[in-house]
Amino acid sequence: MKIQDFAISVIPKILKNMVTKTGSSCKIAKTILENEDVVAIPTETVYGLAANAYNEIAVNKIFEIKNRPKNNPLIVHTNSIERIYDFAKSIPEDAITLFKKFSPGPITIILPKKINIPNITTANNNTVAVRIPNHPIALKLLASLNFPLAAPSANIFGYISPTSTKHVLKTLNGKIPYILEGGICNKGIESTIVGFKENKPTIYRQGSITREEIEATIGSVRINCINTIVAPGMYKKHYSPTTPLIYTNDLKSTFHFNTNKRIALITYNQFDNEIPIHDQRLLYTNNNYKQGAFNLYAILHELDEADYDLIIAKQLPLTDLCLSLHDKLIRASTQ
Ligand code: TXA
Ligand code: MG
Repeated sequence: MKIQDFAISVIPKILKNMVTKTGSSCKIAKTILENEDVVAIPTETVYGLAANAYNEIAVNKIFEIKNRPKNNPLIVHTNSIERIYDFAKSIPEDAITLFKKFSPGPITIILPKKINIPNITTANNNTVAVRIPNHPIALKLLASLNFPLAAPSANIFGYISPTSTKHVLKTLNGKIPYILEGGICNKGIESTIVGFKENKPTIYRQGSITREEIEATIGSVRINCINTIVAPGMYKKHYSPTTPLIYTNDLKSTFHFNTNKRIALITYNQFDNEIPIHDQRLLYTNNNYKQGAFNLYAILHELDEADYDLIIAKQLPLTDLCLSLHDKLIRASTQ
């Protein structure tokens, strides 16, 4: 049986029983997506929950499955700069410079949208967020489709983002038909979002590409997103484990106030003397912040599954890529 036929024959069963299959077939993923349904896809940042960005029924499924508020716009993914013009009215010169420098890669740019992108995809904004992911399987899938893919992170709204198929299954098993496997996401945190409102380049979400890297490319940018809600759908509480998380620069008194609890500590460079080493995770060593980004969500997932009453994360240095990790940890620890 050809893969295409196989996919068509299994889809009705999958939908009926909602057994989530995993595999590396772009053809199965394509068939499901062409049938107005969703597929979890790998990217270099986090796994996405993808649907045809032009199709209201398909995009609506993303919101329903994730339990995501409808005022939270989605990022639209495509595989080349040329194809962006299919659904964006125009691309400012600085945006083209950024796409050329960082794409495929973890940069998302807000552009004026064309009418073929339905309002549900952009939460009624007249702009669309666009990204070209740098993952061979995602690019192969996108190249095979005649529509772009809307894709937020493949997890229930508010929970820790997934960087492996195992993480996707944690909250979406039985809710989606297929996970396209692509290994562990090598960047580990979301893309950086840049917009050009009133022609002023602004970072709306700190992510895998740093402010310094962006400024080295297009000059000075505004940044205003630590602990604030600047883009529609940026939530103060986000990326959160179910175990309470305290993010602090005062480890000593935090330990002191929680002596009766089973505590896990997320720290960096070296272990802390206050609690046993087996209850600690090093986000990174030797100031390797990229390693920190790669590890952040995986550590949060792992500790959330373990039997701790409290996760404490030591405040990170406020510099470089750590600013993005800092932003995620502030949101993850917000009650
Ligand atoms: O790395 C990533 O960007 C991942 C992967 C799957 O590509 N996607 C992702 O999507 O992080 P999500 O849904 O978690 O984040 C989308 C965010 C929204 O919450 C909002 O802040 C911003 O992108 N956004 C989307 N469309 C926008 C628009 N038209 N105007 C302003 N902000 C927008
Ligand atoms: Mg997300």
